[in-house]
Amino acid sequence: MTNSTGSIVVSLSMSLDGFSAGPDVAVERPMGEGGERLHEWLFQGDADPSGVDTRVAQELSAVTGAVVLGRRTFDVGVGLWQDTPFPVPSFVLTHEVREQQQMKSAAFTFVTDGIGSALRQARAAAVDKDVLVMGGARTAQQAIAAGLADEIQIQLVPVLLGSGVRLFDQLGTEHIELERTRVLGSPHVTHLRFRVRR
Ligand SMILES: NC(=O)c1ccc[n+]([C@@H]2O[C@H](COP(=O)([O-])OP(=O)(O)OC[C@H]3O[C@@H](n4cnc5c(N)ncnc54)[C@H](OP(=O)(O)O)[C@@H]3O)[C@@H](O)[C@H]2O)c1
Repeated sequence: MTNSTGSIVVSLSMSLDGFSAGPDVAVERPMGEGGERLHEWLFQGDADPSGVDTRVAQELSAVTGAVVLGRRTFDVGVGLWQDTPFPVPSFVLTHEVREQQQMKSAAFTFVTDGIGSALRQARAAAVDKDVLVMGGARTAQQAIAAGLADEIQIQLVPVLLGSGVRLFDQLGTEHIELERTRVLGSPHVTHLRFRVRR
């Protein structure tokens, strides 16, 4: 599994009906009501005889040099992670000014001047590795809408959640053309990768 380095990659798990979290997201329900179903593939381990899911997760970790995430994802995730989500500098998009927060592996930096600034800071921190826009939906949408995402990676989960946080919302009405660059699958999830055409 190869991958060009230095990209800005939006990567999220999504239900077949387009949700990246369930409804009623809260600290006690970090992925919303029933939304943890979307991340089950990460914990299947030996249940995936092909090993594809493990390889995709390991690859994401290996190529990621910095992370951008939204404040809602930070708030519900940090207690679980007890660290940055990946062991690299992590930039949290928010309207609230906060001090940098040093964790075991790296620091959270809070960025209040928009997605472009968060991605620029992450780009510098990642050096020649990828910047991972790990979500949530609101943050991913802004990276795509601003034309700043180079690649979109979707872990398509075979479930219809019915309600929750829609991933591809608020993107406007302009077509955004994509080139499909990879399809890998296990019974648990289909890993789709697209390059954004410019
Ligand atoms: N399916 C997946 O793979 C996946 C991945 C990651 C997260 N998630 C889930 O997604 C849910 C959260 O997603 P979400 O879309 O609701 O929220 P989100 O993108 O994580 O965070 C939204 C927050 O980011 C801040 N923000 C966004 N744009 C901004 C801007 N231009 N300038 C300043 N601040 C800005 C705002 O924070 P302030 O209110 O502080 O201003 C806003 O409330 C959680 O349930 C999380 O667990 C799922």
